[in-house]
Amino acid sequence: MKTSAAPLADRAALGDADHLIVTIPGDGVGPDVVAATRRVLDAAAAKFGFRLAWREIEAGGCAIDAHGVAIRDADLDLAATADALLLGAVGGPKWDNPNASVRPEQALFALRTRFNLFANLRPVTILPELVESSPLKAERLEGVDMLVVRELTGGLYFGKPSGEEVTPTGRRAVDTLPYHEDEIRRIAVVAFELARKRRKRVASVDKANVLATSRLWRKVVTEVGAEYPDVALEHRLVDSTAMLLATWPGTFDVIVTENLFGDILSDEAAVLAGSLGMLPSASLGERRTASGTFGLYEPIHGSAPDIAGKNIANPIGTILSGAMMLRESLGRPEAAAAVEAAVATAVRSGARTADLAGKLDAAGARAAGLRLVGTREATDAIVEALLA
Ligand code: IPM
Ligand code: MG
Repeated sequence: MKTSAAPLADRAALGDADHLIVTIPGDGVGPDVVAATRRVLDAAAAKFGFRLAWREIEAGGCAIDAHGVAIRDADLDLAATADALLLGAVGGPKWDNPNASVRPEQALFALRTRFNLFANLRPVTILPELVESSPLKAERLEGVDMLVVRELTGGLYFGKPSGEEVTPTGRRAVDTLPYHEDEIRRIAVVAFELARKRRKRVASVDKANVLATSRLWRKVVTEVGAEYPDVALEHRLVDSTAMLLATWPGTFDVIVTENLFGDILSDEAAVLAGSLGMLPSASLGERRTASGTFGLYEPIHGSAPDIAGKNIANPIGTILSGAMMLRESLGRPEAAAAVEAAVATAVRSGARTADLAGKLDAAGARAAGLRLVGTREATDAIVEALLA
């Protein structure tokens, strides 16, 4: 499905700005990290001579409390007028009842389906200064630079039938795992195109020794791979891939896999970076903006309600998601690179939010040449590095 950018008439909020970003702060630490990212993106825009307009919508638990639904149709319509969406996090214990008919994650599924965001990109890199924060030994982390490309709108998440029923012999539940070759082909194309710009290796992950969908997956990815003779393709089973990710993660470049496997493996890969707080993601479809591809950008981490609003959360995963937005949706690659460099500079300068400080207290951090900082101070350091 091809959709063009929203007509300008719908984009009154744009004013004299160049790009419209709709933010979805959501729940928990979402508002903290989205506010931080907005500051960094505005600073990047000022530096590179363009202007951003911002609108905000509610989604997740806060929308359930205010409106009784995880996201309203009118808010999805407003999101449709944007060049890109920036999401914090949704959910929390307050809305955790698995039997509730209205749940925060429904907002994510509504956004993914409405905008056909079938390609979820989750890059995993490790700043040299943070190698010590990783649970893996430093030598195992050598060369880690991978990109998980997760199929996001198919498979078990959306397959029908799905549900629980009462049978004469007891309760029974079913989920369905369907994949059409077109769904596999388009995500494979994304993976191969991205691999071309990287180290030219694709690992396609499946469970072809058991699942029919995986056998189709393997066939279609192999067909697509034939069109990319410059990219090396290997097929791997998901169970041994999980093991390899925790032993020799440096062997991977691009990993492409179906929805549920991608969900699990990308969390596993994220642990390598020392903190979930460091990692960004982008969810893209085919919809074009004036200067790129429409997308939803969000950190990998969740809503962490215990530290919400306390100026503790690490904003870097969201800020790096903002950099991905600059590159993919707004057509501003120099600004994206500058934001990424500013994050590296701030970390190098010793600024560490609590998640990156391990067991160090303020005195211990000082002795190690580091500064324990909150969300705002970490953001200050990044903005300062950006504008330096
Ligand atoms: C993610 C999350 C979601 C998913 C949950 C919150 C539904 O884990 O984005 O990876 O499984 O897709
Ligand atoms: Mg997940």
